[in-house]
Amino acid sequence: MNVTLRGRTEAYRTVSFDAAANSVCLIEQRLLPHEFKIVSTQDFRATARAITDMVVRGAGAIGATAAYGLAQGARIFRGHDLVKFSAHVERVYQTLATARPTAVDPVNALNAVRREMMRGETVAEQQALALAAAEEFANEDARHCAEIGQHGAKLIRNGMNVLTHCNAGWLAFVDIGSATAPLYAAQEQGKKFHVFCDETRPRSQGATLAAWELAQQKVSHQIIADNAAGHLMQRGEIDLVIVGSDRTLGRTGEVANKIGTYTKAVLAARHKIPLYVAIPLSTVDWKLKRGWDIPIEDRHESEVLGAWGVNSLGKRDYVRVANPTSGARNPGFDVTPAELITGIITPVGIFKPKELWKRRHQLGFIN
Ligand code: MRU
Repeated sequence: MNVTLRGRTEAYRTVSFDAAANSVCLIEQRLLPHEFKIVSTQDFRATARAITDMVVRGAGAIGATAAYGLAQGARIFRGHDLVKFSAHVERVYQTLATARPTAVDPVNALNAVRREMMRGETVAEQQALALAAAEEFANEDARHCAEIGQHGAKLIRNGMNVLTHCNAGWLAFVDIGSATAPLYAAQEQGKKFHVFCDETRPRSQGATLAAWELAQQKVSHQIIADNAAGHLMQRGEIDLVIVGSDRTLGRTGEVANKIGTYTKAVLAARHKIPLYVAIPLSTVDWKLKRGWDIPIEDRHESEVLGAWGVNSLGKRDYVRVANPTSGARNPGFDVTPAELITGIITPVGIFKPKELWKRRHQLGFIN
């Protein structure tokens, strides 16, 4: 998507690969919206750390980062011994697969790259196939998001107020985004609407990343405190909710997404407001049988006890907000049951959550 900085507009992807330097290039999301900076990771361990430390975040973006990380790791191997190479690739795979637990996109991305590598008969062939497959994963992510936009734009009517949660925009993917794709497509069609961005404590991805992105794309929006959505729904000021997902269970239609999504889904159901989840196919987990088994990331208590921001000198700083002697609990994600979800916007159409399994072959299910 386009980024305008000091009057200059340039197109960026959230994640890309510099083949000559064998490095993964990332927008440093912890600095946004105050500073726009591209950083690069020099080896697969640094790439995994960038995922863990949330330099890059959002299911699709960490999926593409993991895919490039596997290619990056494979490409540093010297020698011709396929057995030793496979053992090395397995170490790289495990390092990247465990960088963050809840989103399934990294695992699906790593599996796609590894499957493709298997077609090569030599180390050199497998290394080349790894990079081509990682590039294809990134391109497919962007294509899927564009297709989600085409299907989802139909849901947006002139004058609507749309609620989003966290950042499921282009910063959370390679390009375009999932929950934002229908908004950008509707904007291109000339529709006028307004977006409320949930602040999304504790890390405030709504207030920082979603709001920055919407401002960059010139979409009318306001940030609301996480606690304000119920009040606005009660007053008829929210017509539609669109969120993303870190893992959607193909067998049950349950959706894991940023903590607070479940709360919004309960509120939306109470007020009969449609709630849609937008996902590329890499977000579907076809294996797990119940949402209860989705690994929920437990994050550091400091995120709840304080906040990061920029002080009056323009320096990034952390301030402690909470009572100094109190601790905190910080689950990063929650699981929304299928019955609270109006529809899942996929690259191939909009479906009821429980329809996913029936349509599994159309939705890219691999045995
Ligand atoms: O902890 P984050 O910022 O990686 O969480 C991101 C979200 O929860 C997004 O809503 C989700 O990834 C769906 S959009 C890719």
